[in-house]
Amino acid sequence: ARKIIIDTDPGQDDAVAILLALASPDEIDVLGITAVAGNVPLDLTARNARVVCELAGRSDVKVFAGCDAPLERPLVTAEHVHGRTGLDGPTLPDPVMPLQDAHAVDFIIDTLRAEPTGTVTLCPLGPLTNIATALRRAPDIAPRIAGIVLMGGAYFEVGNITPAAEFNIYVDPHAAAEVFACGAPITVLPLDATHKALVTTARNDAFRALGTPVGVAVAEMTDFFERFDKEKYGSDGAPLHDPCVIGWLLRPDMFSGRHVNVEIETQSELTLGMTVADWWGVTDRAPNATFIGDVDADGFFELLTERLARL
Ligand code: BDR
Ligand code: CA
Repeated sequence: ARKIIIDTDPGQDDAVAILLALASPDEIDVLGITAVAGNVPLDLTARNARVVCELAGRSDVKVFAGCDAPLERPLVTAEHVHGRTGLDGPTLPDPVMPLQDAHAVDFIIDTLRAEPTGTVTLCPLGPLTNIATALRRAPDIAPRIAGIVLMGGAYFEVGNITPAAEFNIYVDPHAAAEVFACGAPITVLPLDATHKALVTTARNDAFRALGTPVGVAVAEMTDFFERFDKEKYGSDGAPLHDPCVIGWLLRPDMFSGRHVNVEIETQSELTLGMTVADWWGVTDRAPNATFIGDVDADGFFELLTERLARL
């Protein structure tokens, strides 16, 4: 199984991503979950990550708390999307499993140094603060990373937090710029792909029909989380942004994209955090990321529902 670290700011869609990974032990070995400030402050994301592990029956998973603020900018949160707790919707018990003592950044560094080169994949589902901090503190880890598969950015779909920027990149654009320049193989699941992974009523009914605590909780999470996108974009349901990262690990054949150059805007207030993807190859800047543009949504939801049924 592929060894991964999930770096996350749960978030209902982060929660579903964690559940999908934990439901797929044949393919994915979750070495640890590192929490970062993003959708809600760090104390809540570190809590929510553990709530989700316990929902999956996996209180053995190691959860670490990381950075509580972006590298250079004040934290921007998204309670308007995810609710006050970040995980509004289902009523889930407070976690009893412990938070690990180590800092998330130390866990990332130590793990990449301890495991053989090219065997650990990083899966960031929130702002890239923890990853960039690890790279700053320990540049030797960059060539050891098997790949970085992240949810963030947008090209044709542009922004969801500003007209130009997607939330995860916008919250810590300086971290994103450093991660995109680190030299590790990067796969990006931007809004262009994730806005096609919508929880329609039929797909939500399929989660609920599992009749399990996990199935019902996921249905309740998406019931809550869909309000924002339905009102804003008139979309057919909640976009499952972060689960696309795990979906890509499991079934890359269900996604398509291009290996292109992606640069992050860090200067202009107007377009701060924009992912400037050279989709049409109009510059000679070297490709540094595979930018996913499309997903087989039916296939993805079939896989997701089948996996959630295992928990
Ligand atoms: C991203 O921002 C967060 O609100 C979601 O969890 C996802 O990671 C989508 O822009
Ligand atoms: Ca997230």
